[in-house]
Amino acid sequence: MKITQLVIVLILIIGCKSSYPVTGYESSIQKKCIADKGMVVSGHPLASKVGIEIMKQGGNAVDASIATQLALAVVYPRAGNIAGGGFMVYRSASGEINTLDYREKAPAAASKDMYLDSMGNPTRQSLEGHLASGVPGTIDGHFTAHKKYGHLAFDKLIDPAIKLAEKGFAITRDEANRLNAAKPILEKYNGKNAFVKPEGWKEGDILIQPDLAWTLKKIKSNGRAGFYEGEVADKIVAEMKSANGIISHQDLKQYNSIWRSAVSIDYKGYKVISMPPPSSGGIALAQLLKMVEPFPIQEWGHSDSRPLHLMTEAERRAYADRSQYLGDSDFYPVPQDSLLKSNYIKYRMLDFHADKASESKSVYAGNFKLALEHFETTHLSVVDKDGNAVAVTTTLNGNYGSKVIVDGAGFLMNNEMDDFSAKPGVPNMFGLIGTEANAIQPGKRMLSSMTPTILEKNGKLFMVLGSPGGSTIITAVFQVMLNVIEWNMSMSEAVAASRFHHQWMPDEIMMETKSFDAQLSEKLKNLGHKLRDIKSIGLVDAILVMKNGKLEGGADPRSDDHAEGW
Ligand code: DON
Repeated sequence: MKITQLVIVLILIIGCKSSYPVTGYESSIQKKCIADKGMVVSGHPLASKVGIEIMKQGGNAVDASIATQLALAVVYPRAGNIAGGGFMVYRSASGEINTLDYREKAPAAASKDMYLDSMGNPTRQSLEGHLASGVPGTIDGHFTAHKKYGHLAFDKLIDPAIKLAEKGFAITRDEANRLNAAKPILEKYNGKNAFVKPEGWKEGDILIQPDLAWTLKKIKSNGRAGFYEGEVADKIVAEMKSANGIISHQDLKQYNSIWRSAVSIDYKGYKVISMPPPSSGGIALAQLLKMVEPFPIQEWGHSDSRPLHLMTEAERRAYADRSQYLGDSDFYPVPQDSLLKSNYIKYRMLDFHADKASESKSVYAGNFKLALEHFETTHLSVVDKDGNAVAVTTTLNGNYGSKVIVDGAGFLMNNEMDDFSAKPGVPNMFGLIGTEANAIQPGKRMLSSMTPTILEKNGKLFMVLGSPGGSTIITAVFQVMLNVIEWNMSMSEAVAASRFHHQWMPDEIMMETKSFDAQLSEKLKNLGHKLRDIKSIGLVDAILVMKNGKLEGGADPRSDDHAEGW
């Protein structure tokens, strides 16, 4: 072990408050943090620290989650955002449950076939450039959440982000590598900007974002209207008009977040609370849990081919349902109750065989090739001193979204329109296929896989978790939950443990094979599964309420994620 690695490991073992800067973890290292009063686990150490500082000033979990997200918009530009969207799952200390949908919407000028060329084939315009953006929901979401549950003044929540944008901060190795990799495409869509450094970025370089600081100050002075109206809105619309973008002043002004009833089910005495449509996360997670519930997976053990095969088969079926039935329930009649009925779940597993893999094409027709590109989203889990809990997943969709930076305003636009089904049966960037349920319509929200989730045990807060990872989010959340509930792992062990994913199509298990036992892979192949090696799946940031009442933060060791405790 090199001396620098040793220092990092020691810092991680000794405490969770001083481990910045952190970079380049191997997934075998656990990032554990234990605290009494509060915990923030997010994609970046500086953002987690901002959340805890807000709590120290008297802010609650919602305040801390908003301040952390605003900080992420500065220090984690590939996914933290003010021009993307997200979902919040909330549970108050007294057990009140709510979810906020601030997902992007299709602009009024959007249409079903807008991403098809003259031959009817999908183009790349849903993925990059001006046409790829949905109407941003993030800032409206922050103000909506703050109005209902916030305690501190909004100014206090945005100040740390303004400071980070104005004064700059040292970037991590991971961010430097990603910005360097994105240089050609950021140059293609933008003039001179803060994210491109001609000589290339390296770890520790200072990223200063004056234009973004200007935008954040407009939001600070004018509230929601500081983004959706006035000078910032003018700049967004001017940027759209400079190319083929279609977001208008009217779209921005009319954007609204929505409070929705959570998807809530019981799994072996745990109450699982998650996000309803337009996310597929809650329904798919509930289906997965109910499909595996009758089996003795605890007895089988974690590193065994039996639970892995069973979970894979459940995933195959839940993702086939996702593709057929799920979309924005404000526009399409999603059969949520039917999908979660116990008879339906039983029927779905009737053709499960313990000794043989099913074939996806006989579970539901279709075939294609998965085209994964670099992608990013970000999740944060927050618990405050009173026990209020927030799980938020937020995104620009792809790495640095549409790659379009609003000129003079310094922020990246999302490419969330790719989450719609541009053409029935044709996969999006996560290889997901959809049908009418997720077709493009003006004002509709594109189907998501984001799965911010909160668990209760015996009526008390038990766990807060979520992940980025596109289609793999749901299965990452599913596995981390089971690691704790079934296999007694600590939060940090559960988050670090190796993961796998099946999404019905393509018919293969994506596996972090390097950390799985080779014999296990052989057994799965013998059952008829096809395996595909993948470097890493998801970045789960989670909090567990331990038996002694303390909070254990588990930050994903696969990247810069960081648990900060108080
Ligand atoms: O909403 C969704 O499901 C996707 N836009 C999430 C994208 C994502 O997780 C990319 N990240 N790793």
